[in-house]
Amino acid sequence: MALDTRFLAELKARNHIVDVIAPYVQLKRNGTRHTGLCPFHGEKTPSFTVFEETESFYCFGCGAGGDVITFVMKYQNLDYMEAVRYLAERSGMQLPEAEGRNAAFQRRRRERMYEMHKLAARFFYHTLTGAEGRAGLEYLTGRGIGREAIVRFGLGYAPDSFSALKEELRSRGYTVDEMLAAGLLARSERSGGTYDKFRNRVMFPVFDLRGNVVAFSGRILGDGKPKYLNSPETEIFTKGSCVFGLHLAKNEPDGTLILCEGNLDVVSLAQAGFTGAVAPLGTAFTKEQARILAKYAKKIVVAFDNDSAGLKATDKAIRFLEEQGIPVRILQMQGAKDPDEFIRNFGRERFAKLVNSSKTPVEFQLEKLRAGLDLSDTAMKVEYLRQAVELLAGIESAAERDVYVLKLGRELEISAEAVRTEVNKKIRRNKAAAQRREIRSGEQELKGSYDRVNPERAGMIRAARAEEMILSILVRHPDLWQSAEKLLPPERFLTSFNRRVYSFLLEEYRKNPDAAAPAFTGAFDEKEMARISFFINTPVLRGDPAEQLKECVEILKNEGMKQVNAGELSPEELMDKIKEIKDEH
Ligand code: UTP
Ligand code: MN
Repeated sequence: MALDTRFLAELKARNHIVDVIAPYVQLKRNGTRHTGLCPFHGEKTPSFTVFEETESFYCFGCGAGGDVITFVMKYQNLDYMEAVRYLAERSGMQLPEAEGRNAAFQRRRRERMYEMHKLAARFFYHTLTGAEGRAGLEYLTGRGIGREAIVRFGLGYAPDSFSALKEELRSRGYTVDEMLAAGLLARSERSGGTYDKFRNRVMFPVFDLRGNVVAFSGRILGDGKPKYLNSPETEIFTKGSCVFGLHLAKNEPDGTLILCEGNLDVVSLAQAGFTGAVAPLGTAFTKEQARILAKYAKKIVVAFDNDSAGLKATDKAIRFLEEQGIPVRILQMQGAKDPDEFIRNFGRERFAKLVNSSKTPVEFQLEKLRAGLDLSDTAMKVEYLRQAVELLAGIESAAERDVYVLKLGRELEISAEAVRTEVNKKIRRNKAAAQRREIRSGEQELKGSYDRVNPERAGMIRAARAEEMILSILVRHPDLWQSAEKLLPPERFLTSFNRRVYSFLLEEYRKNPDAAAPAFTGAFDEKEMARISFFINTPVLRGDPAEQLKECVEILKNEGMKQVNAGELSPEELMDKIKEIKDEH
């Protein structure tokens, strides 16, 4: 069956190749590439690379390569449709209709799981609002949660019984196996019998974005452990890609979401009118959750707990959310440990003020630096200035940087000009340091086994880098081989090792024009493979690979002219050679 391209594009967007591969292959990050030992052939040095930019993988050791679907097919030994189905389920997507029998069976199973969760949520809700739910209702009332919020979030109560839910679901035609698979029942290791997993807890249903109940989070009444008991991951629930409260908050008219830590914070905030509140589920905030939030929010106010764990989580949330390009603000509270407590203590107006005065990430960092420093003490003031300048030097936009330069100047009562000078000095120093590092790493490269593989490299680093970039591009974008061949005959490579790799690549592509990049094993020995690995895995710039290819070819041509100048040709030969190279421009 043919799947439409929109479906496949979404499938890939929801299953980032790095996330899918990471559980199976220990990957080491290097910019946007990740390398590790190839799972498809035995090896001791890593030739397996995952490319974030192109959402693809490639092992230059055995030639295995492709996209996320190919990986799942190969790794799990599945056929194409099975791999697609696996990824669809992993990311909570529904396959387009017209599937095979097995798929129809799976879909039915999922549908029943959704239904079962819905029934369970109803059962918990009715219990809470009925005679048996007194303990739960008293607990919620005691925490200031009223009827409206209970209805809005579909809160419930799991009775203090080992079989109440089981009986209810059984009477509706669900099997024990289905309930176990849904995580609503647990099996006793001792007796082998089954029992309700959630007992005597206030129940928070977890909804997906389409409004299906996909899991539960149950809070104990009072103290005890675990405080919250959560559903396991199932066919319809992946923790890290679900956000509590988002099914409601996504409709927030001004697009401002408030990200807090706990379920109860979300309920309590919504009750106070802050209907954009959401929380990560149980686990720490994930990149996937950041990606999802960025789709629905115009701005996100992070309001994590007011403790050291909350501060740490805030740093991570800022990083993940900024990676998604979404404006972030940080809300800080005094006198309460979380938003729920704050509202209880001080009321909604005070919380609204906190939202309005929430800080930008830079302001937040500056405040963290300043905390505990007494700025009337000159030494501390200087120390604060030093650290603040370092922070500001890291801001990319000059305009944004200047906003903080002015602010810092006012705060420290020194001229903005002086601060600006310091920041610019720091930026220059950082640049110089980066260059030094680059040179040093270049020098390091020259040591060790490297020289033996490509001894000419030392004398023409710039050319060799351009060559290696070209090879790296060709490995990742096999479709460019013909234009490369046109632009650049192998003779133009200045170092013979890289020339050999290039000729090999062209040869392989020519033999098999539609294939992915070829296997290098066999044609190159282990030391050479290590060398190839090195340049395939050094980060490249983002951008159009065809353009980058052209640029590298230009660099190589220019370097070629320099080499000619320095060579032992007669003046006439030299002129000919230069002319020849120029004509080709
Ligand atoms: P907190 O411990 O901060 O609880 O956990 P809270 O939300 O303030 O809870 P209350 O106010 O005491 O009721 C924050 C979130 O971490 C998850 C839950 O999602 C909780 O809302 N968590 C916490 C668990 O999953 N399991 C636990 O045992 C504790
Ligand atoms: Mn709390």
